[in-house]
Amino acid sequence: MLNIKFYNEEKIPLEMHKVRIVQKLNLPPIEQRVKAIEEAGYNTFLLKNRDVYLDMLTDSGVNAMSDKQQAAMMEADDSYAGSETFTRLENKIKEIFGKEYFLPAHQGRACENIIAQTFVEKGSIIPMNYHFTTTLAHIVLNGGSVKELFTNEALKVRSDYPFKGNMDIAKLRDLIETYGAEKIPFVRLEAGTNLIGGQPFSLENMHEVRKVCDEFGILLVLDASLLADNLYFIKEREEKYKTKSIREITREIADLSDIIYFSGRKLGSARGGGICTNSKEIYMKMREYVTLYEGFLTYGGMSVREMEAIAVGLEETMDENMINQGPQFIAYMVEELQKKGVPVVTPAGGLGCHIDAMEFVDHLPQTEYPAGALAAALYIVSGIRGMERGTLSEQRDENGNETLANMELLRLAMPRRVFTLSQVKYAIDRILWLYENRNLIGGLKFVDEPKVLRFFFGRLTATSDWPSKLVNKFKADFGDSL
Ligand code: F0G
Repeated sequence: MLNIKFYNEEKIPLEMHKVRIVQKLNLPPIEQRVKAIEEAGYNTFLLKNRDVYLDMLTDSGVNAMSDKQQAAMMEADDSYAGSETFTRLENKIKEIFGKEYFLPAHQGRACENIIAQTFVEKGSIIPMNYHFTTTLAHIVLNGGSVKELFTNEALKVRSDYPFKGNMDIAKLRDLIETYGAEKIPFVRLEAGTNLIGGQPFSLENMHEVRKVCDEFGILLVLDASLLADNLYFIKEREEKYKTKSIREITREIADLSDIIYFSGRKLGSARGGGICTNSKEIYMKMREYVTLYEGFLTYGGMSVREMEAIAVGLEETMDENMINQGPQFIAYMVEELQKKGVPVVTPAGGLGCHIDAMEFVDHLPQTEYPAGALAAALYIVSGIRGMERGTLSEQRDENGNETLANMELLRLAMPRRVFTLSQVKYAIDRILWLYENRNLIGGLKFVDEPKVLRFFFGRLTATSDWPSKLVNKFKADFGDSL
């Protein structure tokens, strides 16, 4: 999106694309919404999409594709071996990241499985800026543990620190000196740090991490799933890179990484994933796992059509007017909510707008899942589906006690190029109404709690009749059911 100034001085992000394929949406009346969320066990993952107006659950696999991506999909080569499609994707990876060897995988967590099986063993320690749920699970499954080395700014909800995704270099050095480099197979940096609100690291910080890795002979692994957002923020917020192109910044990041992996559902706006490196030795070690778990080396579990779309999607990621759309829409939403006092994570990051449920519903204890309750309440009053990122997304400890999350966030993801500004304004409007009526929101409790990844399938219920009180107030204020 270009920074076009409006004559009336309104600050509005202007789209540099037009919509040529559309999908019809439903907005069911509030009585139906409250029934739908009850049937879904107050878990937004279990809602049926036909009951959802704006699906802000995730940006994963739901970004809009371009006409060029769709066109490329028609030219896919299905050959099992020697596929032209694979060569095109491999060449695009080589061109953009400067990495010689590419391994395809069916999505991001499959890459994590391959990397963890290759490098992690019992007692391994993996330092990182912050974990992602699937990353942590694979490292633990292979006997390792994760050490999060974020800076003091990372978990502050309200901050003006531009790079909350940075790694604390002193803590990294300390950790290596305490445990010894031989226990640390790699350091992991996550671009656009997901679980703390889509927050970027700076390229200066990455250079420092690399220096420490070099000093101790440790590999640096980059999770590039949310790289598009991080690239935009480096160019926008880091003085030194203001005049560099997105392609140059990407290459500098890639040159600092020994291994890059990504979820194509986010980076590349299609469905798949992959790992690349310049080390033949590392490639050979990981290669076996691709054929074992994913598929032959020319597709790794992906459909060839999606691979074509990823190749074009990666090229489009080099276009600043493409990658700034998400962050600028998110910034608009964050600023409008902040003006009215709604607690949101700042500075605005990538991925989505993150509401601080700890403050929004500060009358609810963490054991009643404030972020989950807020997600359910927002769905009831708007038909908008967000995702809980708080205590519900944690696992109980070995004694069955709750692990209280560091942050209680409601994530409202902004899939790239999917929603219009009027839809975003609708979301803002309903959130503001809910904020004024926040005292009506009550807690949740489990009725069916799975042991693993409970947030996906767990079923809950309201701790009181608060949902019907919320419905009554909504109908009184709006005069109807929409
Ligand atoms: N790494 C990061 C930083 C992610 O955000 C994700 C997925 C993955 C790895 C795993 O990739 O889904 O293709 O297997 N994040 C999705 C989300 C699920 O909704 O934020 P995947």
